[in-house]
Amino acid sequence: MSERDPLALAFFVGTKGRGSNLFAVHEAIQTGRLAARVAAVIGTRTDAPAIQRAEEAGLPVRIVDPKRLEGGEGAYEATLLATLRETGAATIVLAGFLRRLPSGVVRAFRHRILNIHPALLPAFGGKGMYGIYVHQAVLEHGCKVSGCTVHFADETYDTGPIIAQRAVPVEEGDTPEDLAARILPCEHTLLVEALQLIAADRITVEGRVVHIAPEVR
Ligand code: GRF
Repeated sequence: MSERDPLALAFFVGTKGRGSNLFAVHEAIQTGRLAARVAAVIGTRTDAPAIQRAEEAGLPVRIVDPKRLEGGEGAYEATLLATLRETGAATIVLAGFLRRLPSGVVRAFRHRILNIHPALLPAFGGKGMYGIYVHQAVLEHGCKVSGCTVHFADETYDTGPIIAQRAVPVEEGDTPEDLAARILPCEHTLLVEALQLIAADRITVEGRVVHIAPEVR
């Protein structure tokens, strides 16, 4: 993989995702704040809002729907690996993608897959903890602070090494939607910052700890 451009990004988006994280990164690239390129936007359905927005913006979209592939998980894994190879993608960003990536993809892209999660992991993560359910759980628990986490994805949901986190206050009377709306702009900033760290080659991983080298000016 070393011959690939490390900041050739493949975004995996979900069927309901708006693509706001994708477009925050796209804008950072276009305004020169992030030295990267969107090599592929990968989804399972053409009618997903994020896929439609990506197409309208002229981004390279690929649809890989495991339900339409014969050969189960093995075929899904092989098709994803071939798609990633063809597009030249070297870093994967999961932004609202709710499926677990096949283990062969995780192995081939170890510490090259980022996930953005709308809470402070390891709290409020895991299977079923996505979207509004996360914020509901945070409020039901009575937390005074929530936030967002960018981490490397591993074989299970929301457990990989943490790259960056940002805290966001929970306010009296918040609905899950209020909290989601307060956290979302922080997700956008944090994801761009994490990719800037990768672009600047400042990240190393030791066990489950991500070390960040000081900025060289
Ligand atoms: C974000 O809240 C992210 O944390 C979660 O899925 C959502 C995706 O939103 N993993 P968007 O499609 O990027 O707007």
